Amino acid sequence: MDVLTRVADGIATIAMNRPAKKNALTAPMYRAMADALRAGDADPAVRCIVIHGTADAFTAGNDLEDFLNNPPLGEDAPVFSFLTALPACTKPLVAAVAGPAVGVGTTMLLHCDLVYAADNARFALPFAQLGLCPEAASSLLLPMIVGHQRAAEKLLLGEPFSADEAREMGLVNRILPATETIGHALAQAAKLARLPASSLRATKRLMKEGLGASIVQRMRDEGAEFRAMLTAPAAREAFSAFLEKRRPDFTKVG
Ligand code: COA
Repeated sequence: MDVLTRVADGIATIAMNRPAKKNALTAPMYRAMADALRAGDADPAVRCIVIHGTADAFTAGNDLEDFLNNPPLGEDAPVFSFLTALPACTKPLVAAVAGPAVGVGTTMLLHCDLVYAADNARFALPFAQLGLCPEAASSLLLPMIVGHQRAAEKLLLGEPFSADEAREMGLVNRILPATETIGHALAQAAKLARLPASSLRATKRLMKEGLGASIVQRMRDEGAEFRAMLTAPAAREAFSAFLEKRRPDFTKVG
């Protein structure tokens, strides 16, 4: 199973588990994660949802072979279903990040309430490098959280950044040794699970009030651009280059 889900002691856990491919996300994985998020949000026994990967990878982002051979061209594709489930979630979302968190691996964190990172965590948003554009409303949320120039550095140049920089920018609550990150996130989730669910929901709703509609609209706008770019020559060259383990050559594409 590439995604493991469980509900215990008031906590729903969603674990990306495809270590041979650094937890790169395929359409069935997005479907499983979207279903688990929605089910956890609807289940009265669940007080809090935790998302994590393995000890050496959160996720390498979308599976690039899938992007090349099976691009998500419909608004209802599993990836977009997962992305829209994130801001729709009314319960606290806690993430534990170790190793690479690329593309959606970083953008999904912008929708989490608590983010714990391992000292080996490495974040990157290489959308332009892949001939794509931002998703998950990251073009709205990242500048809002870290400021325009910092966001531009990450979204235009796609330069990877460390756990220290992510913490300094306000994307991460705390840095831990890699072996302790998931355990710490689960311990924090257990604290949340002992609190009144109604207070958690009201607090999260009030903190996010006013943002919801903008996030949904931005995801729609980004999604339209993103889907058009997925099959354009620049992206196809980038995906092929990654799979062929060579540098992309964008000199002949726009
Ligand atoms: N899609 C498909 N396969 C991927 C993948 C992805 N996004 N990321 C990693 N893999 C595969 C590699 O091809 C490799 O497969 P192989 O062993 O069959 O050759 C395996 O996972 C391990 O990856 P590798 O690159 O050897 O690990 P690394 O530790 O050197 O580097 C990353 C890890 C995440 C930095 C690097 O794999 C990477 O840059 N991946 C692409 C990230 C990306 O652009 N994602 C899309 C964002 S929208």
